[in-house]
Amino acid sequence: MQHLSITRPDDWHVHLRDGAALSAVVNFTARQFRRAIVMPNLSPAITTVAAAAAYRTRILAAVDPALKFEPLMTLYLTDKTPTPEIVAAAHSGFVKGIKLYPAGATTHSHAGVTDIAHVYAAVAALEEHGLPLLVHAETTDPAVDVFDREKVYIERVLAPLIMRFPKLKMVFEHLTTRDGVQFVQHAPQNIAATLTAHHLLYNRNAMFQGGIRPHFYCLPVLKREPHRLALLAAATGGSPKFFLGTDTAPHARGKKEHACGCAGIFTAPCALELYAEAFEQAGALDKLEGFASHYGADFYGLPRNQEKITLQKKSWTMPEHYAFNDDTIIPLRAGEQVRWSLHG
Ligand code: NCD
Ligand code: ZN
Repeated sequence: MQHLSITRPDDWHVHLRDGAALSAVVNFTARQFRRAIVMPNLSPAITTVAAAAAYRTRILAAVDPALKFEPLMTLYLTDKTPTPEIVAAAHSGFVKGIKLYPAGATTHSHAGVTDIAHVYAAVAALEEHGLPLLVHAETTDPAVDVFDREKVYIERVLAPLIMRFPKLKMVFEHLTTRDGVQFVQHAPQNIAATLTAHHLLYNRNAMFQGGIRPHFYCLPVLKREPHRLALLAAATGGSPKFFLGTDTAPHARGKKEHACGCAGIFTAPCALELYAEAFEQAGALDKLEGFASHYGADFYGLPRNQEKITLQKKSWTMPEHYAFNDDTIIPLRAGEQVRWSLHG
């Protein structure tokens, strides 16, 4: 297949940052996607509807006016998020989810939730109002091996949580393990998951190919090949529970190539093209449209997009870097071939 025409997709998990960094990255996402769920892990975090409204305005001001792009906002859940804030978010019309970061799990998560029991009242309000809980599903228990943190979080937190709140709409963000795939498959219809392009294309060997490769480091960290294969099967299997969320997470080169490098992979300049590679690898290009353009909107209760985009089987070379404030940013595939091109 040389051309693939699909409904314009949405990205159900992005980090757009703020200030000059926002201006440097937002149009890569806006060029590809009609809408995106914007993560609230700024510093300070977006914890109120008022802060989300102001952030939304800054995002729209940074978007190229020639592009139609709608940021869908999220709030950052803390141990102290008041229930009325959840209710206000549900009624706001522009806040589409509440993000649960276990405190200390990832970039700017120190203000996150220290114990799930502290947020039961907030989660009950989410369940009542039908607003999705978006979960970074990794335990922060230092005794647990980094590669097992997703599996252990499912056992200790998520499985009991969905029993306690059976009607809660929940998105298991950036799923990385076979255990996670099985959990979502066996859970009721109100439980879904996003999958990144990098977790569909790479396993953990990519971080150590000939030396340490910081631009392949993200959280949750890349896993073993059998996990990657389980994710690819889930993405391409036609189930509406699995949909696209890039987790594109830009950091300046100096913060990645560092003694204590930041977690995050920047895929926004070639996100859809990478998903096309993954689906082609699985012989399932016919399943890309549902995954990228239909199931996420359906889960969030939003209309599917109308316009179309076209992917062409034509290679191009990813630039070595892009400008990012007073530093640069290294995209995934820097200086390498991307095998599909996006038009429209
Ligand atoms: C994200 C970031 O940099 O904000 N990093 C990442 O590796 N994905 C945070 C996150 O989603 O975990
Ligand atoms: Zn993320």
